[in-house]
Amino acid sequence: MIKDWLTNSRHTVVFTGAGMSTESGLPDFRSANQGLWQQKDPHQVASVEALNTNIDEFIDFYRKRVLGVKEYRPHNGHRILAEWESRGRIQSVITQNVDGFHQQAGSKNVAELHGTLQKVHCQACGTSYSSEAFLDGSYRCDCGGILRPSVVLFGEMLPEQPFESAFDEASRAELFIVLGSSLSVTPANQFPLIAKEHGAKLVIVNQEATPFDDYADLVINHRQIGEVLMEWQCF
Ligand code: APR
Repeated sequence: MIKDWLTNSRHTVVFTGAGMSTESGLPDFRSANQGLWQQKDPHQVASVEALNTNIDEFIDFYRKRVLGVKEYRPHNGHRILAEWESRGRIQSVITQNVDGFHQQAGSKNVAELHGTLQKVHCQACGTSYSSEAFLDGSYRCDCGGILRPSVVLFGEMLPEQPFESAFDEASRAELFIVLGSSLSVTPANQFPLIAKEHGAKLVIVNQEATPFDDYADLVINHRQIGEVLMEWQCF
């Protein structure tokens, strides 16, 4: 079934969440044991309010996450997706992840819905810097404003261009494959539905069940993404 869908689809879109990067060593957010939000309240550390009223904890949280994406690397699953794109098996990746691993593995057409930890920018004047700034302890812009990671914080709008391109891709998809997301955050979790409403086949590969499994044509639970992609590589 999935082999035929992968072979016959003229426009295949892959949608990834934090579960795509756990095999690289990065924690996800909501897994029972290691999820970041099992230890921290996201509104305390990852929201505009935290940036304005809880700056020490905000910086400590994001400094650790910036260190993480510098220390860990894309895994074989990221490389398989990049190779599939290069040979036209998939057309794009829509990701909620901010680690930059899809691009590091070679994917070109990537819509980063929630921004990236690879950059920081000034909250006051918008000037962008590499996130190395966070690692050497500089949290202030030359203008005096506070530097924050270029990720979407709770309470902020998603960046327009990635959102629009994700909408276009989901609308054109004949096959839409979700890899490693609990699909619990809007508006990102609407893209599988948009694809479905436009006639796509929907596949969800996720350790745990998601609220959208009933809409899917195929659900694969309790499997590691890397392993599943390796299997599909053989088709
Ligand atoms: N293989 C398959 N599934 C996995 C793997 C794996 N190796 N590792 C984790 N998972 C699954 C988990 O079971 C979990 O359901 O990936 C899912 C990840 O879900 P979340 O932790 O909720 O991450 P995500 O869906 O990306 O969260 C969306 O929430 O806090 C915000 O901005 C943050 O982008 C994030 C958004």
